[in-house]
Amino acid sequence: MTVPPPIVAPSILAADFARLAEEVRAVEDAADWLHVDVMDNHFVPNLTIGLPVVQSLRAATTMPFDVHLMIEDPRRWAPGYADAGAYNVTFHAEAADDPVALAKDLRSAGAKAGLAIDRDTPIEPYLELLPSFDTLLIMTIKAGFGGQRFIPQLLDKVRAARRHVDAGHLELRIEVDGGIAADTIEQASAAGADAFVAGTAVYGAADPAEAVRHLRALAERAAPGA
Ligand code: DX5
Ligand code: ZN
Repeated sequence: MTVPPPIVAPSILAADFARLAEEVRAVEDAADWLHVDVMDNHFVPNLTIGLPVVQSLRAATTMPFDVHLMIEDPRRWAPGYADAGAYNVTFHAEAADDPVALAKDLRSAGAKAGLAIDRDTPIEPYLELLPSFDTLLIMTIKAGFGGQRFIPQLLDKVRAARRHVDAGHLELRIEVDGGIAADTIEQASAAGADAFVAGTAVYGAADPAEAVRHLRALAERAAPGA
């Protein structure tokens, strides 16, 4: 297995929303992507932020945005995030009737395209779609809330994806999201993930930038072939 250097993406879901720009700047030099969780209270039973906040934040930082859409009808809304300057736009497989068509739309709008797989969704039906995507986000919790406990059994999906990506020489990041922290990131890295979302573990720490650096070091050390 050959895995590129890890990406660490702090999730602003765990940040103080009243001081969002400040919270982003706290991780700007340490992190690779900023993970932005968009929830619509329909696809998941929680409501967070949407396009206006992403647009305002875009002007406040140079960090690449990794937008994670936990919404229904992504075909209608996802391209707007690409137009707003998101680096990567990920939508859920469970919400999309034609994932490949939407991936094409996102790429032609200038963004990378990501496919997310929730806790109860098997990975196998989606493996053959991966050449149309740049990122594959495998939930390591049930999507909807931060601060949940990591589910190690879900790493079987990461292993299956890693085998498929390596065998097909695909250029695709395998991202894990949910419960990623100092005590779980190594197993996720060893399973073949190479992008790591962390909310609580970053913004719950006294020094968020230091938390990012620590997570990256752990992921690097545990990566296959490291
Ligand atoms: C939850 C979100 C996650 C969340 C992770 O559905 O997709 O990105 O912020 O939070 P932690 O790292 O606290 O599990
Ligand atoms: Zn997320």
